[in-house]
Amino acid sequence: METIRAKLAEFGQEHLLYGFDTLPADRQTSYLAALSELDLAYIKKLSENAHVSPTLGGAITPSPSTRASDLTTEETAELTAIGKQLIASNTVAVVTMAGGQGTRLGYDGPKGCFDVGIGIPLFGLIASRIAALQAETGGVLPWYIMTSNENHEKTVAFFRDNKFFGLNPADVFFFPQGQLPLVSTDGKILLAEIGRVAEGPDGNGGVFAALLASGALADMEKRGIRQVFVCGIDNALVRPADPLFLGFFERDGAPCASKSVAKASPEERVGAFCVKDGHPCVIEYTELTPEMRQARNDAGLLTYGDANIVTHLMRFDALKTLCTRGLPMHTAFKAIPHYLPGQGQITPKEPNAYKFESFIFDAFSALDRMAILQVTREAEFAPVKNATGNDSPATALALLRQNGY
Ligand code: UD1
Repeated sequence: METIRAKLAEFGQEHLLYGFDTLPADRQTSYLAALSELDLAYIKKLSENAHVSPTLGGAITPSPSTRASDLTTEETAELTAIGKQLIASNTVAVVTMAGGQGTRLGYDGPKGCFDVGIGIPLFGLIASRIAALQAETGGVLPWYIMTSNENHEKTVAFFRDNKFFGLNPADVFFFPQGQLPLVSTDGKILLAEIGRVAEGPDGNGGVFAALLASGALADMEKRGIRQVFVCGIDNALVRPADPLFLGFFERDGAPCASKSVAKASPEERVGAFCVKDGHPCVIEYTELTPEMRQARNDAGLLTYGDANIVTHLMRFDALKTLCTRGLPMHTAFKAIPHYLPGQGQITPKEPNAYKFESFIFDAFSALDRMAILQVTREAEFAPVKNATGNDSPATALALLRQNGY
């Protein structure tokens, strides 16, 4: 106890022990264990650098990409056949990052359990597409689903209740991502309540460390996986292990590949594929400068117009290397409810705290190149982000209907 108190005092975080004496003995023990695991020096560094963008700086140019619509019919058929062959030979895995909090959607549960209105939840849509590919090719596509501490149990229970949507439970693997404390603007770690630090998932870049720590990566290795498809949970039209994309990736030979869609407007809240100092990267919508957002090329198209739709492919060896590398941290400024010693529970209306997150695409900066396949947005991008308006269940439902659902 005294060691922890001294460590907290050294970093100005003694308030975390507020009300400690009022906790039952077992909670005291578990809380001390949780406090002793906090890397206070690291959190201090993150807070001090909260206003520094890890992405901007350096020479940034737009990324080259291949338009799927420019492939000939023969090429498309050939690449699709290559992709199906890979699935048939059991070397492809699917990873879905479903640890996000979905705050903007306002849905109280794991986002994957959400149904935009067709009677199938987002998890079920991906499961049905995996099942269809397995049936068609005769191969197995093991599915690794990243959860967070907050939604792990609910996610697993949802799959159990839905009989794994017909998939073999032995081929579905759940792994929780890491957490990081939420910090006030003056560098104080927030309390969620007496005896509990306020924390949030560490961003979708946490997928690398979580794959490694959970044993998911080792499971892939044991199964002989060579191509790993990674997607988010919130694109209702995502095509897990799309054979065309797999074939394109295989032919290209790059260590990683991503799908993009043409950005709809300068204001669209999507990241743009770029090249920075000779390395592939994505510049997030929050970090793209107003000039870059508006810039157009000679053809009148947005210069930074290849939008990231969180649909990536990685060779297993590349993934394995990326899993042992650290990623830079980005900072979001959010309104975080918390317990304030002496004042009680606070629900701020305005942003009051920093949330630190790493982004999966920052890993691409370690590569010399990657392959980008630009696909048709109406057929492959139906984001479910907001409760109403753009990128909402209503817009996703309309797109699903347009695609035959
Ligand atoms: C994300 C992309 C953005 C892209 C847009 C397209 C990142 C960092 N940003 O933005 O470039 O143009 O989608 O829709 O990839 N997630 C976790 N754990 C977390 C945080 C997120 O699993 O801690 C998952 C979410 O569940 C979701 C995906 O990652 O499936 C992307 O989520 P989010 O962080 O909300 O990114 P966006 O801001 O929507």
